[in-house]
Amino acid sequence: MASKSGGVFVTFEGGEGAGKSTQIRILAERLRTMGREVVETVEPGGTAIGRQIRRVFLDAGNGELTPEAELLLVFAARSQNLKQVIKPALEAGRMVLCDRFTDSTRVYQGVARKLGLEVVETVNRIACGGMAPDLTLLLDIPVEAGMARASARNARGDAAQETRLDEEAPEFHLVVREAYLDLARNEPGRIRVIAAQGSVEEVAARVWETVAGSAVLG
Ligand code: TMP
Repeated sequence: MASKSGGVFVTFEGGEGAGKSTQIRILAERLRTMGREVVETVEPGGTAIGRQIRRVFLDAGNGELTPEAELLLVFAARSQNLKQVIKPALEAGRMVLCDRFTDSTRVYQGVARKLGLEVVETVNRIACGGMAPDLTLLLDIPVEAGMARASARNARGDAAQETRLDEEAPEFHLVVREAYLDLARNEPGRIRVIAAQGSVEEVAARVWETVAGSAVLG
């Protein structure tokens, strides 16, 4: 396993409105009923410092953030989360489910913001020692369907002011989707693509099939 520490590190990725947080909650519950110790975390966020960074990063009022500042903010949050939450949990043999990780940075800052994948890998080495998940579930949904779900969530006020990236043009989100699918094509062993359209239960069944069919349950 890439985390090499006893535990298992699983990340969820996808564009806006793919349903990651709902699916993480369902998977975590299912694993707990099997007796697994599961830690759920989120990026950016996951720690008290990370949550402060998340507010700055996603605040719709911060349109002036540069791509470089975005990159450093998400890695600052990730470095805290790795040290304070993820590594200790893995070392204790737990299963960690993380809502987004470095693939988000590759796609959003590396490709969509055009910083390039090399730049992302350089900072990844400095901030996170290049730490990679054992398994990544990419919840793939057509941009229009995902954006419709994300706007419904924002209209309900679920994500408060966290709309800076949701407000990017549809073209941005199309680039994000394609970049994710490219990553999955380059690393088919780690990144599994799951169709995220359909009911919550249907997607949860696909997630479970993928997790159960992978090596992570031992
Ligand atoms: P979400 O977690 O609610 O999907 O929102 C997080 C937003 O932050 C989403 O638009 C993707 C973006 N993001 C990046 O741009 N780079 C990153 O490294 C991470 C973790 C998230």
